[in-house]
Order: sequence, then structure tokens, then C-alpha cells
Amino acid sequence: MNKEKKYIRLKEQIEKLIKDVSNPISRMATINSVLHHKMPGFFWTGFYLLDNRGELIVGPYQGTLACMLLEKNKGVCWAGINSKETVIVDDVDNFEGHIACSSLSKSEIVVPIFDKDENITGVMDVDSREKANFDETDKKFLEQIVYMIYH
Ligand code: SME
Repeated sequence: MNKEKKYIRLKEQIEKLIKDVSNPISRMATINSVLHHKMPGFFWTGFYLLDNRGELIVGPYQGTLACMLLEKNKGVCWAGINSKETVIVDDVDNFEGHIACSSLSKSEIVVPIFDKDENITGVMDVDSREKANFDETDKKFLEQIVYMIYH
């Protein structure tokens, strides 16, 4: 099955799974589990969330042990927070300031999350062991899936 078709199926599955519980953390945890286990190449799948002190701390995730706290304004997750745009990194070694929680991660996508008032609350972060694993299809569908957290 191609990636587009797979995302369409998983999106429908996630919609059904999360509809009865609006708690964003519960939704993130469910989204995480579905994507991590069903999308090929998702080596680390998770969320980093802004806390009330403006720090970016780890949220629900699946995969190897992750950094609890990300140094402010450094790395790919903070680039997503600061730009409020999805960031795709084909080769993490070429991204200035990239924070390596695992040396096995080679490429990465970071998708910002907005609540109902359009405030940014954090990012979804997916890492792959393959270089250039993420493209415009991942961007399109992960943005749609992340939107479902608060809507
Ligand atoms: N690579 C991220 C840090 C999080 S880990 O990849 C799980 C970054 O540069 O922000």
C-alpha cells in the first residue's frame, strides 16, 4: 500500500478511536501508538509540549528513551515552535543545533500543534533511522492528524 493510502486508512482509524475522549494527552497517546506501530520507518514517534514556563518538555511517545527537556531555541522541535510551520530535516547531521536523543535517528519531521484558540501548545516529532524518510505526504497527513488533537 502506498503512503497516501496508508495515511488515509490510519486517519480514519484514529478518528474513530479518539472521538469519545477529548483530553489532548489521551488523544496524543493514541495517535502515537497507531502511527508508531503502523507507519514504516517511524523509529521514534512523540510529542514535545510547551509548559507554563515556556519550556519544551517531553509528552507521550513511543520509541527509545527521549530527552525530557529541550534546550530553548535549539534543535528541530524548537525550530517548529518558533516558525509555527512543519519542519522536515532529511539529514539531521546537516541541521545546525539538532538535538540527538538517539544517534540512530537520521531524518526527522516536526509538526506544530495549535489549540482551538490557535495558540501553539507543542509539536509532534517523528524520527527515522533512514535519511530523507519524510516528504510532503507526511507533512500533509501529519498536519491533519495533529489538528484532530484539539478539534
Ligand atoms: N531531535 C529533536 C529532539 C527530540 S528527539 O529527536 C526525540 C530536536 O532536535 O529538537
